[in-house]
Amino acid sequence: MSSLSIPRQALYYVKKVAEGRSIANVQVISPCEKQGQNYAVAFEPLGANVKVHNSLEQLPTIRNADVLVFNNALSQIVTNADLLTDFLKNATNAASVGGIVVIREDLKNVADKRQVARLTDYFDVFRTNDADGNNTGLDLYTVDEVHNSTYVEQNFLDFIFVFRKKIFAPSTDATVTFRDFLDKTQYTSTGIDAYEWMFGVNFISPGGYAENLKIIKRFGDLKPGQTMLDIGVGIGGGARQVADEFGVHVHGIDLSSNMLAIALERLHEEKDSRVKYSITDALVYQFEDDSFDYVFSRDCIQHIPDTDKLFSRIYKALKPGGKVLITMYGKGYGEQSEQFKEYVAQRAYFLKNLKEIHQIAEKVGFTNIVTENMTPRFKEILIEERTHLEQNEAEFLSKFQQRERDSLISGWTNKLGYIEKDNHNWNFFMAQKPFPK
Ligand SMILES: C[S@@+](CC[C@H](N)C(=O)[O-])C[C@H]1O[C@@H](n2cnc3c(N)ncnc32)[C@H](O)[C@@H]1O
Repeated sequence: MSSLSIPRQALYYVKKVAEGRSIANVQVISPCEKQGQNYAVAFEPLGANVKVHNSLEQLPTIRNADVLVFNNALSQIVTNADLLTDFLKNATNAASVGGIVVIREDLKNVADKRQVARLTDYFDVFRTNDADGNNTGLDLYTVDEVHNSTYVEQNFLDFIFVFRKKIFAPSTDATVTFRDFLDKTQYTSTGIDAYEWMFGVNFISPGGYAENLKIIKRFGDLKPGQTMLDIGVGIGGGARQVADEFGVHVHGIDLSSNMLAIALERLHEEKDSRVKYSITDALVYQFEDDSFDYVFSRDCIQHIPDTDKLFSRIYKALKPGGKVLITMYGKGYGEQSEQFKEYVAQRAYFLKNLKEIHQIAEKVGFTNIVTENMTPRFKEILIEERTHLEQNEAEFLSKFQQRERDSLISGWTNKLGYIEKDNHNWNFFMAQKPFPK
């Protein structure tokens, strides 16, 4: 789907999210009349009644839309929180429950080049009561780049947001979705910047560029034009590295909009169309079957609750003969200290030991399974990184607060303690999807 026209890219998501359910009522709001008509033509195969409007003013009159498309209709309101709230209320009310909301918005000219994170946050956490008192909102499927704009115009800040309207259980939680939890706790913008200082440019994982390259090389012979899915791509260092070093085409996904907003801002500067990004959940995005030569993931899957489901999805997405390589925070075999348990709970980590990873991989059908405990190397890196911070405190404190310095030092020191008790591990997993017999 990489070179689809914009309406056809929108249709592609609609079909994925609809999962075969019938679509009768499609409403398109597009200030550009011609583009609005292009959507009407592209959506013809759905056999639905497609109505095209040219202004947001018509939105409050729309009800029960199975598909609601906004094509560059928000340019006057994207940076205004109050107007966005009004818009979201009307958009949520206009869609039927289960209806799909597609918002295409080119953010290239917005001053804040990370506005995509702000918008994702507004859209993802917004809730409103419908006429029956249900707590309704938009469930995030993905935020993708408009591929036509990346290929044809080298514009990497033109986006398609895709949601499904849902009734949510009433919630009093401080963070409304898991994306919200990631962005508001471990991966705030400042938190990411401080982590990057610690790990190295473009990386949020132990050892930065050099360590990642060493790990990537364990795939073997990567060739130009091959395809890779990078799960939990962070601020994009790994994706850009395999594109640069090996000519591999990478689809990097990450659930943190703060992370991906940085990756996208940099991609927009670097104009590397071998790399594309999606703000999405690895357990939600529907990849094409048999479509990737490689699946890679650096230190992400400890965040993901259902490893069986994740591994099954990776297996399906890999081409026969394709390889998966994952490094992850894991648990060891020592008795867990209360402090370690608290750390794991506070981060909402789901840690597995190597035996569990091996078993899941076997059950899913992988062959040539390699598992390896990389904790001794983790320990070395933690010490190097902590020493680097201690020796360069003045530079760090010229950019960040004392509390960030203290939190990094204690975080790194605590991890070294968890390693000593064989509580915390750093684990490696590689396997292959077999060829059909
Ligand atoms: C420690 S960071 C590693 C980032 C990157 N791989 C690197 O090496 O720099 C882990 C990443 O996993 C992402 N993540 C967590 N849960 C996810 C999920 N369910 N789907 C996709 N990404 C997820 C986080 O947002 C975060 O960016």
